[in-house]
Amino acid sequence: MTTIDTRPLRTLVHTAGSPEGEWWRDAVIYQVYPRSFADASGDGIGDLPGVTARLDHLAELGVDAVWLSPFYRSPQADAGYDVADYRDVDPLFGTLADFDEMLERAHRLGLRVIVDLVPNHTSDEHVWFQAALAAGAGSPERARYLFREGRGVDGTEPPNNWQSIFGGPAWTRTTDPDGTPGEWYLHLFDSRQPDLDWEHPEVRSEFEDVLRFWLDRGVDGFRIDVAHGMVKAPGLPDWDGHVSMIDGSDDVEPTDTVSGSGNQGPMFDQEGVHDIYRAWNRVLAEYPGDRALVAEAWVEPLSRLSRYVRSDEMHQAFNFAFLATHWHAPALRTVVEASYRASDAVGAPTTWVLSNHDVVRHASRLGLAEPGSRPNGIGRGDEQPDEALGLQRARCASLLMLGLPGSAYLYQGEELGLPDHTSLDDDLRQDPAFFRTGGAERGRDGCRVPLPWSATEDGFGFSPSGVTWLPQPEEWASYALDAQRGVPGSTYETYRAALQLRRESGLGSGGLEWLRGLGDDVIAFVNRDVLVVANLGTGPVPLPAGAEILLASIDPAFADDGSVLVPSDATIWARYTD
Ligand code: GLC
Repeated sequence: MTTIDTRPLRTLVHTAGSPEGEWWRDAVIYQVYPRSFADASGDGIGDLPGVTARLDHLAELGVDAVWLSPFYRSPQADAGYDVADYRDVDPLFGTLADFDEMLERAHRLGLRVIVDLVPNHTSDEHVWFQAALAAGAGSPERARYLFREGRGVDGTEPPNNWQSIFGGPAWTRTTDPDGTPGEWYLHLFDSRQPDLDWEHPEVRSEFEDVLRFWLDRGVDGFRIDVAHGMVKAPGLPDWDGHVSMIDGSDDVEPTDTVSGSGNQGPMFDQEGVHDIYRAWNRVLAEYPGDRALVAEAWVEPLSRLSRYVRSDEMHQAFNFAFLATHWHAPALRTVVEASYRASDAVGAPTTWVLSNHDVVRHASRLGLAEPGSRPNGIGRGDEQPDEALGLQRARCASLLMLGLPGSAYLYQGEELGLPDHTSLDDDLRQDPAFFRTGGAERGRDGCRVPLPWSATEDGFGFSPSGVTWLPQPEEWASYALDAQRGVPGSTYETYRAALQLRRESGLGSGGLEWLRGLGDDVIAFVNRDVLVVANLGTGPVPLPAGAEILLASIDPAFADDGSVLVPSDATIWARYTD
């Protein structure tokens, strides 16, 4: 085969680092959403023993670490993101001993474990909030939260005009013990998730202590929930902007570094949050072995997000600008380049992600007429995604992402190509966003449906009883793990092969040089000795001559002269053969 010199067509964007850097710089981290991963008890809700029993799957898949969404004591008003006790496991999910067993097994398999920390708010059933309600206005107990007098005659109006991210006002009025209406408290999310006051020293010391509790147990890091929300602007001033964590504003075309998914306003991205992360960085540094903090911060532009991962703060921040960018090669190239520019400036890795428990899965998102648009949930009567196209594009997007240097997060089920449940009965929905918007937003239940492990068992093998807390669509048999394992070209085997190649070739710690000349609809780059070509255009494009296919998201096509073509909505990994 003839080798062509493509060097003149290359532009360096990001320089390769050392494969020996801290583990989180290039790790592939798999998100387990415990209630929907695997159920061992038979109650139809996933649990920690279920996770332990299925860790072999993650080791076989070839990820480096696991992030678990909350499993702490909680009334489950927001599926566990309403924590009543930060130091205990909810009986729904098991016990602390079950957690220890899971952690030990994961470590034995070479998997690191990150847990979720929810510091912006507690559950209304947390002892602090119960004490605050009982103690009344002006009490030290109330000072840990954001209680305020109402405005207007008799305080009947909320203290400011902020809206909850889940819809409706961000304030709820309390009732005093004598039955008269009392103060209001702030909740950026559900009324059962009161916001803490991070100016209070006890709040700060309590969370440092919670970090130590889990570090002492051996966790490798924390994913920090709403990391950009804990500190509010002084005086809690009114704000008329639109607050939305999940859908951003789709009408904003991606520009230089803005996808429209960043939160704005006096409740987000205040300077004071950075003091908290500097303090937490010091806590983690007391422990051996590179423990990591990852920010869930819907902050834009990317240069602003990168401030969370300065060398004395957190270690990673989810790159939601990438997730939120439409299926458009120039826009994706722009966001990729801006991501490296921003994170390289502070010496941090980029942290790619395409799906999680808060967004419509990318296999469904990319099957919509406007691929990449982000409705907050899809239900009956809504536009239904084109399932086959969505899957093809999802595989294309995943191979693109896994070819990029940096760390990457996978959401459970994406290795199976799983779509959302897009026709769930509204009366089965549980997401508070559905209720607080009066159904205007379907909410996030569709991406939280229990995983299909076996094509033939009841409940697709999720639970020994066959029960699942949300119904799975019948068509999911074809997505089940046992229907894909060992089947060449299946989504699962494609992910496995990608993770293996990524590891062997050092792509996570590699560099990125754009390869130009393949057309505007093509994203092509070289990372170490691997060439990645993602074709988002409508027709096939030739793979550069001299490059030998390593992996393809779908079967490649061939031109009449036998040369390889990258089909539309496909990604190919290749290597030059000298
Ligand atoms: C984060 C979580 C989301 C939760 C919210 C409130 O965005 O990912 O699931 O509802 O915070 O804790």
